[in-house]
Amino acid sequence: MQDKILVIGSSGQIGTELVEELRKIKGIENVVASDIKEPQIAQNGPFEQLDVLNKEQLLSVVKKHNTNQIYLLAALLSATAEKHPEFGWELNMNSLFNVLNLAKEGIIQKVYWPSSIAVFGPTTPKQHTPQHTIMEPTTVYGISKLAGERWCEYYHNKYNVDVRSLRYPGLIGYKSLPGGGTTDYAVDIFHQALKNKAYTCFLDENRTLPMMYMPDAIRATISLMEAPAEQIKIRSSYNLAGISFSPKEIASEIEKNIPDFKISYAPDERDLIAQSWPESIDDTEAREHWGWKNEYDLSKMAQDMILNLSKQK
Ligand code: SER
Repeated sequence: MQDKILVIGSSGQIGTELVEELRKIKGIENVVASDIKEPQIAQNGPFEQLDVLNKEQLLSVVKKHNTNQIYLLAALLSATAEKHPEFGWELNMNSLFNVLNLAKEGIIQKVYWPSSIAVFGPTTPKQHTPQHTIMEPTTVYGISKLAGERWCEYYHNKYNVDVRSLRYPGLIGYKSLPGGGTTDYAVDIFHQALKNKAYTCFLDENRTLPMMYMPDAIRATISLMEAPAEQIKIRSSYNLAGISFSPKEIASEIEKNIPDFKISYAPDERDLIAQSWPESIDDTEAREHWGWKNEYDLSKMAQDMILNLSKQK
């Protein structure tokens, strides 16, 4: 059967890159982008303006395009959800129910839903955090992602829904900007380094977090979705590891490429969120079950970011 994919939240940090890559693989017409907002950039394929919380609208878009797979990327991220806790919960949970229910009813066949390192909390082991461990998230975003993971597994076990998920680390890319996350600094720092040769970081200089370069994240997502169903043994969400670094470490990497770059620190409430998350992740299960392997380390990522952002100037 031809895959007919709907990407919900296509204008966001992941959506922008995922749509581009899926269209290369599946054909432009087979990947419908959708977002609650009118797109800012010209679309090179089908687009629908869609509020995922509106079930009727969602169903009519799915029917119109004969969609059989949904990538649900719409969400409030960690920092924004702390400012709007009720809406964060509503959007992050009800969007998932709306999509999982379409799969339960047999209208679509496969679902991708992103989870996050935010499912972990201050009582979780911080180094090489294992797949199965203590999970007591303290943010609205983390609570919604952990609850979502449980529901994904539940829908798989109970209704045989083919839902797949990754616990993304902080994502870094040059093609799109993140919005409202705690790990956003690792993208902003490159923009400011090239523009002003200076950056004020909202995290503590030693706040190490798990991160990943976008080409790795997109490749992981598509490999997971394309893997044979029997290889997907975890139906909550897979740990996924790339790079781990602190603001100080990424700043010194940037300095290697931009020698007069200066960083200063003004930690704000986002540093408290970051303090509750792991420093590094053990993703043995993803490696063993469906062959995951990351490609980018810190210096390769930083060089590629600087090279590509410089071209955009
Ligand atoms: N990167 C996200 C954030 O910072 C976590 O998934 O909110």
